[in-house]
Amino acid sequence: MTTGSEFVVVANRLPVDRVIDEAGKAAWRRSPGGLVSAIAPVMRRREGTWVGWAGAADEALEPFEEDGMHLVPVTQSSEDVELYYEGFSNATLWPLYHDVVAPPVYDRAMWDAYVRVNERFAEATAKVAGEGAIVWIQDYQLQLVPALLRKMRPDVRIGFFLHIPFPPLELFWQLPWRRQILEGLLGADLVGFQLPGAAQNFVRLCRRLLDARYVKQDVHWDDRVIRARAFPISVDVGELQELVARPEVRARAEELRTDLGDATILLGVDRLDYTKGITQRLEAFGELFTDGYLKPGQAAFVQIATPSRERVEQYQLLREQIEQQVGRINGEHGEIGFPVVHYMHNSYARDELAALYLAADVMVVTPLRDGMNLVAKEYVACRDDLRGALVLSEFAGAAAELKRAFQVNPYDIDGLKDTLRAALNASPADQARRMRAMRRRVLEHDVDRWALDFLSSLEQPA
Ligand code: ADP
Ligand code: G6P
Repeated sequence: MTTGSEFVVVANRLPVDRVIDEAGKAAWRRSPGGLVSAIAPVMRRREGTWVGWAGAADEALEPFEEDGMHLVPVTQSSEDVELYYEGFSNATLWPLYHDVVAPPVYDRAMWDAYVRVNERFAEATAKVAGEGAIVWIQDYQLQLVPALLRKMRPDVRIGFFLHIPFPPLELFWQLPWRRQILEGLLGADLVGFQLPGAAQNFVRLCRRLLDARYVKQDVHWDDRVIRARAFPISVDVGELQELVARPEVRARAEELRTDLGDATILLGVDRLDYTKGITQRLEAFGELFTDGYLKPGQAAFVQIATPSRERVEQYQLLREQIEQQVGRINGEHGEIGFPVVHYMHNSYARDELAALYLAADVMVVTPLRDGMNLVAKEYVACRDDLRGALVLSEFAGAAAELKRAFQVNPYDIDGLKDTLRAALNASPADQARRMRAMRRRVLEHDVDRWALDFLSSLEQPA
């Protein structure tokens, strides 16, 4: 009989990446992205095991403890990284699930690798899960794991959460392996999505594609009932509040303002991803100078972009495009000592991010499609001074909750310019009214509440 963990999280990534530092020594660095931002604090506060990949190819690592978490690494060969991670996960599923904003690649060798690596994750999980354990599988990279694991370990209770959007039937239908993906997900007891619309898309697909019976959002399949529900994810409010209360973080925010010549600061914080609408926001900002609405020195755009999926073609194209665009805007509108766009292709520490959020007059979050977007909620959680304005895309999951943001369609450059102008002009009283309403929502629905909602729903009998 196994004597494993009672609670297991399974995600493609571990919360830390193995990197080699300047001295040639192996070290751990926080992994990028919203999934890790959300799950890591939950795991730190619960006893459990996290099964995932340490971010480098061909490395077989033993289980280890890091930052109060028990981590079990799953190896990926360089071929797996190329075909399963960069390929099927990020060149097929990622664009398909984000409204095909880039063309998805359909390649059979990539699919075979996806199956193979999902099997490996299921096997690793089956080994570490204790009798009757709760297993929580995360995101689009591992959609086959629920059914594979159920076959190996029918005793465990299986939850699945999709961090990204789930596409409407018309788009999902393109996928040559659509049936296998749905059957994979239906191995779970509870399938969680960011928004109710995504849960509806899933249930509708189960009926159309598998002829499965359903009652409301319960799918009947294989003599079981699988629940599909929405659980909008959130941020670690406690961590962010603690950061912004630190005098050194406040001082750093002041220093940033001074360094930028006391200009009005617009801020973008993203992974460098084509779903984030970075080029659209920079285009609109640049045109405010062309139109004479802004003058150099008066406003500065700080865009921080974490390097992401750098070997995938669409990401390389985007990087070139943004670098050219930043050069063009600064060439046209900057002056000596006053670039209008400050672009950093880098990852920042949490305290530096918190200082940036505090310094930013306008936070610009303009994804073309996003499951939730935690950056928007992080900004709101940090602004206990009730200042600052949030410009938020209608196509981010967060728009459903942050109704008092300056909402915008990022495809509409004129609309984006109007919205930026409105946010730049918002009076302190208007900023405070909006921020208060948004903070009420985020502070009440933080990431602990999200995890509790999901896990208590998973523990309920069907
Ligand atoms: P995604 O999961 O698609 O990357 P989210 O906005 O939901 O998008 O989550 C991004 C997470 O990564 C947030 O917690 C944010 O603070 C963090 N992040 C984004 N850009 C950077 C950066 N340049 N440096 C450090 N952290 C970043
Ligand atoms: C998004 C996805 C996560 C992913 C993260 C970073 O948040 O939903 O599953 O981990 O981006 O992307 P990466 O490819 O670097 O893991």
